[in-house]
Amino acid sequence: MEPFRADLDPAEDLEELPQLLDELDQEDAPEDRVSDDQRILELIEHAKHGRNGLGTILRNISHYAFPTILLSERLNIAWTNREYEETFKDEEKALPRNLAADFPNELHSEGLNKIYKAINDPDSSYSYRGKLKAILKHRHNREFNVIITPIFIETPDRPSLYQALFDDITEEQRAILQNTFLSLLEASKLKDNDTGKHIQRVGEYSKIIAEHLYRQNLEPDINPEFIDSIQFLAQMHDVGKIGTPDDILNKEDALNETEWEIMREHTINGAYIMSTYPHPMAREIALFHHERWDGNGYPYRLSETMIPLSARIVAVADVYDALRMERSYKESIEHGEAVSIILADRGSHFDPTVVDAFLEQQRLIESVYGELLD
Ligand SMILES: [Fe+2]
Ligand SMILES: [Fe+2]
Repeated sequence: MEPFRADLDPAEDLEELPQLLDELDQEDAPEDRVSDDQRILELIEHAKHGRNGLGTILRNISHYAFPTILLSERLNIAWTNREYEETFKDEEKALPRNLAADFPNELHSEGLNKIYKAINDPDSSYSYRGKLKAILKHRHNREFNVIITPIFIETPDRPSLYQALFDDITEEQRAILQNTFLSLLEASKLKDNDTGKHIQRVGEYSKIIAEHLYRQNLEPDINPEFIDSIQFLAQMHDVGKIGTPDDILNKEDALNETEWEIMREHTINGAYIMSTYPHPMAREIALFHHERWDGNGYPYRLSETMIPLSARIVAVADVYDALRMERSYKESIEHGEAVSIILADRGSHFDPTVVDAFLEQQRLIESVYGELLD
């Protein structure tokens, strides 16, 4: 019987997988372990009619709250529970298909190779435990703990197939990561005369603007993950001020040219600090939030869409809040006046599309300012 070819996406990357597995087979697998995925489909079919011990396993994992699948040794998915279908099914993807079809960004990482080797290796008890990244419906990036265990049906010393259970740990991972950077944020608040509330409000406004652009389908780069990220990372926009001398930050009189030069370096310092954050948006916001649409900003005088979208959004949010805030050297400006100032700079300082989104959402933005007063 011909072993089936995995039903892979037409993407070029995925076409390499069967070949990759063939190579691995030749390298590692003994003759008699050459897979027969058709046999597994038959096992599952028989199990449905109660003709082998797999029936009980199937009934149990049907009800698992975790996405769970049955896999062949060649990482072909032969069966999925409902939770898995709901989590992963983007469009109609027929079974059997390879695990790589659901985790395409792992194809060139070591992830799938490691799994393949582990589940075919008695020394690792034919098991695997590790992490996999997936891009799900609506382009959500999710990270999963995956636990793969063997199922012995036909022979006691060789798995017939495998159960793989997925646990979404994205939120957990994000919380750990953000906590690390929160202390940095606290440190930067001590330095800066801008208040902690300013930072929080800029995060909220940025999220509101990004959500509007997403809902109206105005920016293809925005997805739910972008919205979550910008809310947190917009707060870090001035983290580079940690490196700015206090007498410049707190100077009451106007800065002279040398002092301005040092002040502008907070963008480059911020980018340096945020470069360890594993999302490019962190660095982009810190580095480019003072660039202008017309190319007259700093540090690099980038213009228009050369400036990353995240930074174009934060620029509007930051300036609006700076206008509203009372500072030692200036009175607070009313919402309407702040809006007129931003509108006057539409297409010069600011991206027109972002200003339009800001205008559409100005009531909500004004209420955030009211709720998060200093
Ligand atoms: Fe700044
Ligand atoms: Fe700011």
